[in-house]
Amino acid sequence: MATAKYPLIWRLLHWVIAIMVLAMLPIGFWMAYRGEAGLWGALTGTLYASHKTVGFLVLWLMVVRLVFRLTITPPSYPPQMPAFIRRLAHSTHHLMYVLLFAIALLGWAGVTAFPALSIAGGWSLPGMPFIPESRTLSKLLFTIHGWLAIVLSILVVVHIAGALKHKFIDKDGVFDRMSLKK
Ligand code: HEM
Repeated sequence: MATAKYPLIWRLLHWVIAIMVLAMLPIGFWMAYRGEAGLWGALTGTLYASHKTVGFLVLWLMVVRLVFRLTITPPSYPPQMPAFIRRLAHSTHHLMYVLLFAIALLGWAGVTAFPALSIAGGWSLPGMPFIPESRTLSKLLFTIHGWLAIVLSILVVVHIAGALKHKFIDKDGVFDRMSLKK
């Protein structure tokens, strides 16, 4: 069934952020494991540097995405879609927005408090304003960052399962609204 698509810029933002987050979650868990195991070296350093860089980019791409989300009306769902599925989809989407902002801000605040702002090639991220230098604070921020990343991982699985159900079982055009295909 043909349904109206999301605007192209929105679809592009969705897929760029999706790829970044799908890479950030395993890289984050892997590098934190290596850090805790004391496996410091070139690989761990590269994982941390790329995680910080991509995470910081996700934050600002989410700002752009939020502006679009607040200014564009999304295409409506097909009429046969049950009300509770619509509510489930809306809640999952809203919660993912909140988590992506919270996780990225906590990561940035954590590296500011530590401080561990250097990324690669002699570059550094700017520090987050008003965050004091404190190892205790950075530990707390990274603990919450990690727990929220676990919650986000669960939501990502639910979200992908829902998208695949639309594509292969319901075949109701909902998946194609976000597809980059014409
Ligand atoms: C939405 C974007 C982000 C996602 C999905 C994400 C995900 C993760 C995950 C899954 C972990 C492992 C948690 C653990 O097992 O303890 C982690 C750790 C970490 N993240 Fe992020 N992160 C994001 C953004 C950021 C940003 C923007 C920064 C800094 C600029 C950052 C810095 C870190 C650091 C330094 C750690 C390691 C903490 C430690 O070793 O205790 N993250 N992240």
